[in-house]
Amino acid sequence: MSVNNAMTADFLRSAYGGESMAHMRYLIWGEVADKEGFPNTGRLFRAIGYAEYAHADNHFRELGDQKGDYTVPAGAVFGVGKTVENLQGGIDGELHEIEQMYPVYLETARFQKEKGAERAFHYALEAEKIHAKLFKEAQEAAKQGKDYDIGGIYVCEICGHTATNERPDRCPICGAKEELYKAFKK
Ligand SMILES: [Fe+2]
Ligand SMILES: [Fe+2]
Repeated sequence: MSVNNAMTADFLRSAYGGESMAHMRYLIWGEVADKEGFPNTGRLFRAIGYAEYAHADNHFRELGDQKGDYTVPAGAVFGVGKTVENLQGGIDGELHEIEQMYPVYLETARFQKEKGAERAFHYALEAEKIHAKLFKEAQEAAKQGKDYDIGGIYVCEICGHTATNERPDRCPICGAKEELYKAFKK
């Protein structure tokens, strides 16, 4: 399994960089939320951070045997503030991926007949739509000084699909079975 076209390979490396940084940023913002007394919001950051790890993992693996050192340009949101602001950073980052980055990457992979990259970008794009929605809901609560009212959070290890309150029987994005969901419970 390896990518053949340079443009798709560049996009895989960039997406790997962006997802790696999102993973780390959400862990940091999760700790901030915990300290502010918002444990569910902290847990949401950690669960979504795990989904970004799954995306980075997919992008990295799709590069296959393309070894070597690269300087990787990738978008990332910076800044640590209050949880309301950090959630805005989360929303902004996810929306960039949904509206700009992944649609372009996905079309390029499709055009270049890079099936593996196309799948990896599709998985990420669909999962990020849910992330933006969850961050918006958490932010609505945080604006009122409240924690996000949420039960278990379940993340598909294959594609990063993120479900709340109930573990899905099957992943609606990639078709994985329920055992492949990682649980982030209270
Ligand atoms: Fe995301
Ligand atoms: Fe999935």
